[in-house]
Amino acid sequence: MIVYYSQTGNTKYVANKLAAKTKERVLNLLDYSGEELVVSKEERLGIFAPVYCGGLPYSVLAFLETAKIKCEGYCYLFATYGNVSGRVGDIANTYLQKNIGRKFDALFCAKMTDTWTPMFDLSNREEVLAILKNAELMIDGNIERILQKKQGDFLVDKTLGFVGKTFLAVYNGLSKTAHLSVENTCVGCGLCEKNCPSKAIRMKDGKPVFVKENCDMCLGCLHKCPTFSIQYKNKTKHHGQYVNPYVDLP
Ligand SMILES: Cc1cc2nc3c(=O)[nH]c(=O)nc-3n(C[C@H](O)[C@H](O)[C@H](O)COP(=O)(O)O)c2cc1C
Repeated sequence: MIVYYSQTGNTKYVANKLAAKTKERVLNLLDYSGEELVVSKEERLGIFAPVYCGGLPYSVLAFLETAKIKCEGYCYLFATYGNVSGRVGDIANTYLQKNIGRKFDALFCAKMTDTWTPMFDLSNREEVLAILKNAELMIDGNIERILQKKQGDFLVDKTLGFVGKTFLAVYNGLSKTAHLSVENTCVGCGLCEKNCPSKAIRMKDGKPVFVKENCDMCLGCLHKCPTFSIQYKNKTKHHGQYVNPYVDLP
């Protein structure tokens, strides 16, 4: 079974690529309804998620901490990231261990485009496509390891251990919805409200309003807005919008 969280498509792309080979059940983590996920000795359980602030999105942490999982089989994490994978393995292991008393058998990653456009520029389509092309080698190598049920830590581009300890404080500051703004070009289509994984957006008088102090800060609202009317602070306008061109997203 594959459980994935992906708001701009990179992680979904990897999950789909594996699923095309294995024909496993694929579950969007946001559709998880609390049922027990039973994985037999012969099966695999893969959690696919993006790296956020060297760790994981709130929604993924909550899933790892509370999902009902009965896994007797091979259990692994697959993280996509843009520049540094941080301490994603330690953090994922800590949350899973707290919940079901075991760690992941294996940890994998793939370096893809960095959707954190308050810092990184994804406005050049050729550059974006080149990054995704380069990612294929890493994705395919790790898919092969998963098929062979290889055990171990295959993460690269990690940061020092202290990042694991400061991760939540950093993420909490960065994920304040007060950093987001809506420009006058907004046409009030409501797509951002519909797709927000944190349910942090409500349409009021035809415009999105952020109704929670924090959200996952996936930037899905910014990247998928048809008029590019949502911004994070002041740099994102120049850094373009991005969704992985090889997957369908809501
Ligand atoms: C809030 C936020 C924080 C991020 N933090 C990191 C990070 O610490 N290191 C990194 O390499 N990439 C980081 N990224 C980039 C994503 O991990 C990367 O683009 C990922 O492939 C996006 O996955 P998705 O398209 O499936 O949502 C961050 C992105 C967001 C939105």
